[in-house]
Amino acid sequence: MPAGFQQLGVETVTGTLALSVFTAVLGSLEFGYNIGVINAPQKIIEGDYNATWMYRYGEPIPTGTLTSLWSLSVAIFSIGGMLSSFCVGFVSEWLGRRKAMLINNLFAFIGGSLMGMSKLCRSFEMMILGRFVIGAYCGLASGLTPMYVGEIAPTSLRGALGTLHQLAIVTGILFAQVLGLESLLGSEHLWPVLLGLTVVPTVLQMALLPFCPESPRFLYIVRCQEHHAKSLRRLTGRQEVGDMLAEMKEEKRRMDMERKVSIPELFRSSLYRQPIIIAILLQLSQQLSGINAIFYYSTSIFMKAGVQSPVYATIGAGVVNCAFTVVSLFLVERTGRRTLHMLGLGGMCICAVIMTVALALLDSVPWMSYISMLSIFGFVAFFEVGPGPIPWFFVAELFSQGPRPAAMAVAGFSNWTANFIIGMCFQYVADLCGPYVFLIFAALLLFFLIFTFFRVPETRGKTFDQIAANFHHFSTQIQIKSNENNTH
Ligand code: GLC
Repeated sequence: MPAGFQQLGVETVTGTLALSVFTAVLGSLEFGYNIGVINAPQKIIEGDYNATWMYRYGEPIPTGTLTSLWSLSVAIFSIGGMLSSFCVGFVSEWLGRRKAMLINNLFAFIGGSLMGMSKLCRSFEMMILGRFVIGAYCGLASGLTPMYVGEIAPTSLRGALGTLHQLAIVTGILFAQVLGLESLLGSEHLWPVLLGLTVVPTVLQMALLPFCPESPRFLYIVRCQEHHAKSLRRLTGRQEVGDMLAEMKEEKRRMDMERKVSIPELFRSSLYRQPIIIAILLQLSQQLSGINAIFYYSTSIFMKAGVQSPVYATIGAGVVNCAFTVVSLFLVERTGRRTLHMLGLGGMCICAVIMTVALALLDSVPWMSYISMLSIFGFVAFFEVGPGPIPWFFVAELFSQGPRPAAMAVAGFSNWTANFIIGMCFQYVADLCGPYVFLIFAALLLFFLIFTFFRVPETRGKTFDQIAANFHHFSTQIQIKSNENNTH
């Protein structure tokens, strides 16, 4: 075996494959960083909004205006993500996966600079615009990264490498939580640095991308370019790649028989309807599980749960989040996607119920605060076992080359929309329902668990073509059944 190559299962992880995956997931790191960065320094940045208002109008900012400006600063990130995730299909086909990632970094530069300079320029408008632009970056990255990684990964490592996208997201969240401590960068003077730091992974990604090969599947199946074999050899470290080329050839042959797949077609064609519904519901199961209620509002949730140092408890949740993503990384190729996803949803559902009971009993039984904290940690841990990492790469697995970009766009859009809804509504619903708010998530989790049990197939160890053929078989069966019913 050549030096620098490592045997993992039956597949070799070459230096080029490792470098390419690492470079791609720098985008995910940045995505996570921007999810987590706004939580801790909220009060301090609000103080600066107030100072700007005083400077401009000579009076303190009205409370209602401040709340609106802050909510907008938080939520506009998801709007940026929603809009750009919808363009993933078009951008990745037009520029190619690698160039699209490269150019996306422009958004990160602009967004990071706007946020980093906003204090100096005494402008909360710059901060809000910056959050929108960085959201747009994250929306594209959340589609481009899993697509590229899924396409360059060997079949037997697709799940494990796909999970690295989520691992980088959670690492980004944790970095942001720790750096956001007031004793580090979350202070009055340093918060612009905290927000501007997002350009660091950008620079690194731009420096490394030229050394990563373009996805061979994209080159051959979409662009019909023959030099894909060279990319493939670099990624696999093998001279003999005939079996892989044959598999791609078969996928291309099928794709050439189909017309180009647009977004409306995904829903119209009986071939794609089933997988696109699964893709959307998996994304919804990730967001409507309530995970971001924890990540956006953890400090106030821990406070209500009677936890002594909510900021450190939030960091604790971040650590649990990272640790269990690593657990999933090792389990996903052994246990399979479907089982892990169900295990995660079921565990989260039970934790949500325990959390509700603990919160409801808090006034009469003081040690319930420990139970509620542990149940929140459990909720996060189970999330990362399945619903965190799996939906991201599962969509890329469910579709072959032709419909994949359109499907990633629809899935990403569903994810970001649900993310936005939770971010906007949770606080209001929590005020309305008190300790019972997590029962809503428990009910939703139960529904997604049942759906996964009945509808979601296992994709572990199957080639893209085999997975697509499965659905083809399924849709033909439905067709035959409905024809039979019509003739009877
Ligand atoms: C997933 C979700 C993201 C969430 C994160 C938490 O990546 O997409 O919204 O904040 O997990 O770990």
